[in-house]
Amino acid sequence: MTDRYCVFGNPIKHSKSPLIHGEFASQTHQAMSYTAELAPVEGFADAWRAFIADGGRGANVTVPFKGDAFALCDTLSHRAKRAQAVNTLIVGGNGRTYGDTTDGIGLVRDLAYHRVPLAGKRVLVIGAGGAVRGVLEPLLAEQPSEVVIVNRTAEKAEQLAQAFADLGNIQGGGLASIDGQFDLVINGTSASLSGELPPLPETLFAKGAWAYDMMYGSEPTVFLQWAGPRGAKLLDGLGMLVEQAAESFFLWRNVRPETASVRTLLRQSLN
Ligand code: ATR
Repeated sequence: MTDRYCVFGNPIKHSKSPLIHGEFASQTHQAMSYTAELAPVEGFADAWRAFIADGGRGANVTVPFKGDAFALCDTLSHRAKRAQAVNTLIVGGNGRTYGDTTDGIGLVRDLAYHRVPLAGKRVLVIGAGGAVRGVLEPLLAEQPSEVVIVNRTAEKAEQLAQAFADLGNIQGGGLASIDGQFDLVINGTSASLSGELPPLPETLFAKGAWAYDMMYGSEPTVFLQWAGPRGAKLLDGLGMLVEQAAESFFLWRNVRPETASVRTLLRQSLN
């Protein structure tokens, strides 16, 4: 029987994950299916159990279920525990559910793909919500000289920095506390979704700096449109999406798919 996988979300209609995993599966000759599944906002655990009963072997989890997925797992990876979120579910022995999160490794792999250096570099992260929390552990593992988290609500950035302080040099504060220049500035806020931009100093970017938006779309995000004329090299979150998917695929199938062609395909699908 063909192994079943899916992505759960609400809404889920516009998810690119079936396209990505469909490509990975055909490229690596895996007998599997991958569909997009709409789960009711109050009924994620039931949807997951029904999926397992129907031959499901694993799933990706997106907004708004990453916390629900975290709560239902029998076993969690240490990076999922740190992130307090799960984006990858795996059915293990005796029908037990194992949870992991591949978002952070997706970001770090995408940065490596584009040869963005991290070791010894100064990194600014804007935002302190779930998306940022999910990437901090892999980011700190690359040993930047400093990670500064700034957020509209300063306390959330301070709390997040404290929660990860054992993993590296990490500071948190409000947007007004931004000081000096950075080699990499990551926008992890959801402000791009509403076409908004947090107020940022003009002199944010060091020479040769990169601006990274964890969001992506057919047009550059407002943050990238702002960063370009200020001298930064620009990256959006499309590669992060492909790389987090590749890591989930590896966890399920023990095969590493090739991502370059899937990046191209996905970019074309946006137009
Ligand atoms: P996600 O899962 O996308 O991280 P979240 O947990 O709701 O979603 O976090 C959203 C993040 O975007 C927060 O850091 C939020 O700032 P606050 O903590 O101050 O709410 C940030 N954000 C959203 N809209 C924003 C805007 N217009 N300007 C600045 N920051 C914004």
